[in-house]
Amino acid sequence: MELSTASIVFWSCFFSAALLLFLRLIKFTKGSTKSTPPGPQGWPIFGNIFDLGTLPHQTLYRLRPQHGPVLWLQLGAINTMVVQSAKAAAELFKNHDLSFSDRNVPFTLTAHNYDQGSMALGKYGPYWRMIRKVCASELLVNKRINEMGSLRRKCVDDMIRWIEEDAAKSGAEGRAGEVELPHFLFCMAFNLIGNITLSRDVVDIKSKDGHEFFQAMNGVVEWAGRPNIADFFPLLKRLDPLGMMRNMVRDMGQALNLIARFVKERDEERQSGMVREKRDFLDVLLECRDDEKEGPHEMSDNKVKIIVLEMFFAGSDTTSSTLEWAMTELLRRPESMRKAQEELDRVVGPHGKVEESDIDQLLYLQAVVKETLRLHPPIPLLLPRNALQDTNFMGYFVPKNTQVFVNAWAIGRDPDAWKEPLSFKPDRFLGSNLDYKGQNFEFIPFGSGRRICIGISLANKLLPLALASLLHCFDWELGGGVTPETIDMNERVGMAVRKLIPLKPIPKRRTGLRKNMERDLGKAMEMASGFVNERMKKQRTEGTKRKDFLDVLLEFEGNGKDEPAKISDRDVIIFILEIFLAGSETSSSIVEWAMTELLRNPKSMSEVKDELARVVGADRNVEESDIDELQYLQAVVKETLRLHPPIPFLILRSAIQDTSFMGYHIPKDTQVLVNARAIGRDPGSWEDPSSFKPERFLDSKKIEYKGQNFELIPFGAGRRICAGIPLAHRVLHLVLGTLLHHFDWQLKGNVTPETMDMKEKWGLVMRKSQPLKAVPKKLT
Ligand code: HEM
Repeated sequence: MELSTASIVFWSCFFSAALLLFLRLIKFTKGSTKSTPPGPQGWPIFGNIFDLGTLPHQTLYRLRPQHGPVLWLQLGAINTMVVQSAKAAAELFKNHDLSFSDRNVPFTLTAHNYDQGSMALGKYGPYWRMIRKVCASELLVNKRINEMGSLRRKCVDDMIRWIEEDAAKSGAEGRAGEVELPHFLFCMAFNLIGNITLSRDVVDIKSKDGHEFFQAMNGVVEWAGRPNIADFFPLLKRLDPLGMMRNMVRDMGQALNLIARFVKERDEERQSGMVREKRDFLDVLLECRDDEKEGPHEMSDNKVKIIVLEMFFAGSDTTSSTLEWAMTELLRRPESMRKAQEELDRVVGPHGKVEESDIDQLLYLQAVVKETLRLHPPIPLLLPRNALQDTNFMGYFVPKNTQVFVNAWAIGRDPDAWKEPLSFKPDRFLGSNLDYKGQNFEFIPFGSGRRICIGISLANKLLPLALASLLHCFDWELGGGVTPETIDMNERVGMAVRKLIPLKPIPKRRTGLRKNMERDLGKAMEMASGFVNERMKKQRTEGTKRKDFLDVLLEFEGNGKDEPAKISDRDVIIFILEIFLAGSETSSSIVEWAMTELLRNPKSMSEVKDELARVVGADRNVEESDIDELQYLQAVVKETLRLHPPIPFLILRSAIQDTSFMGYHIPKDTQVLVNARAIGRDPGSWEDPSSFKPERFLDSKKIEYKGQNFELIPFGAGRRICAGIPLAHRVLHLVLGTLLHHFDWQLKGNVTPETMDMKEKWGLVMRKSQPLKAVPKKLT
């Protein structure tokens, strides 16, 4: 095998470095009298590098039962301590925060002197203090956060629009309407940071604008997230054996150049004397730069660009991945999704738009956000800290420059701190004061202490607003044959931990109508269930004396084969409700239309009243036994049902198999609308079809609405014909007959038969658009 000069140089450097390190390690171990925390046995030279795997937070969590909550690893030359319990985290942040408030900088993030300008990676010292103060007071302080409410609203509204458009496009292309949710979440968060820092949308979802920046950022995230051998063996840094530094220099350079363009534009604006209405974060940074302070407080052009870039890194992946996990967990648990949506309907109203001012009242939604951050902290090991000095930590010796991982992912699952730690249960946060602001050490997705996340207040506003808007605007379904039980929950590590397989759910716009329906149906079910429970209690205590339909349903015993053995309580409730709906709305609308038509046609009105006077007489009420003799009244009811069938398209049918129908091929699952209203007005069947003429039913042909005469099918026909025809027949004639027999009716105000409003309104049944108002005059 021939070796190139480069590889000879690489391998000689590698082995000399390894040897030097080995000797240093032996010296360190022999010379040390104090003990470091326990940990797994490592390989010579490499230590535990290969133990970490691709998801280090999970590997380390699995090591806890064997080695305890404070773990020691040797990652090549880097001493590493891992803190994995709430108790150990409390000890670290409460008693040793200062000792561990430095950062460990990955080699690739020294490209373009990034670490020199960065706050997140900055050495604990005057520059870090200065830039943190600037950010805290100008960008992420509560007052400023509140002032930026309209920006968050705009970015969330944009996201909802993109999702809606994409779902429609997907549907139009013959797909199920699924959307790449994480992409839209990321663009929303990215544009929000763009608006806060630069007063502009940085990505335009429909054009290539911002695409370059996006690509470059993705590159930076990739090279920063990948494990790099040079981080474990510092002597290899100069060789950059995996080429990661070269790639990082290229991608970060590109991202910084794009920001440089924005900075240049802004400088030109400032020089031309243009005054912006609202100062943004870039203005603040440029003012710091122009102060021309020297030394550690100096803010150079490069540092301005780095800080802006850092806001994009820190703010977009973290928030968007949290939202993706929240949606994933809710799709896995439809019950939690329903609870969150019901809360929104209650607090915001079905037609309302979620506002930040609603969030305080959305307690369940807040609990969903917390539970998501407990199980899926986007930065599971926080940002690695670095020991500023030798420290005695919980009885262990931790030498200066030890890298410290705080495993927030493991701490959120710590069985000593959480009941059923692996289950997603937002309810655990209801009525509890636990929050993620760094004081409850069992729950530290944003870290704690001096280096706690500075974007916490922004995230605290954005996460609930964005999640609430997603849930209030859409109902969500899983596409592609995925079920709540089979949804993939694997992770991948990038800048933040994301779902390995991006979530692609199907949004369905929640209309006010549907939301109203859910709310009203919910109320009606609650009432019906009250009746049912009361009756069951009575049956148990008093037995059944008088049997009505509810008793029959409750006592039903089937054969368990082609009929159920028992009707479940829920089905009884639904059944009762259905009978109310089917029986009341339909009958009342028919009587209203019949009265309307009679008032429009005074001749028919007097005809029917004469018949009632003749058959029933003046001194008694109409009885069911009179109906057979009331031929004209029957004709009025039929004529009303012909012109105004209350369910004009009947109840939709669906083809249970491929069918040949009148020479056409009708595939399985085709939806079938039978237009009973059009059939009742079919000029092929009816003479003068749009006129109200009850007389047409008085001839000897005897057209009925019982499913045999297909020109008159207001109750349908066939197997699914209305089951309530006999009852409806009696109720309609009795009610209409009684109204007409007891009163003379007149139109109200200056309405005449010719000017009566006959418009229709869609609902559960087709009603009059303007409810009929008529004046009854009691007959003496
Ligand atoms: C879900 C949202 C977020 C989560 C879970 C999160 C989490 C974290 C974590 C764990 C740290 C390290 C804390 C430590 O070492 O103790 C951190 C640091 C930081 N975060 Fe966030 N973050 C989020 C959003 C944001 C946003 C929106 C911004 C700004 C726009 C931001 C800016 C920063 C910065 C600048 C630091 C470094 C602080 C320092 O070292 O002094 N983060 N974040």
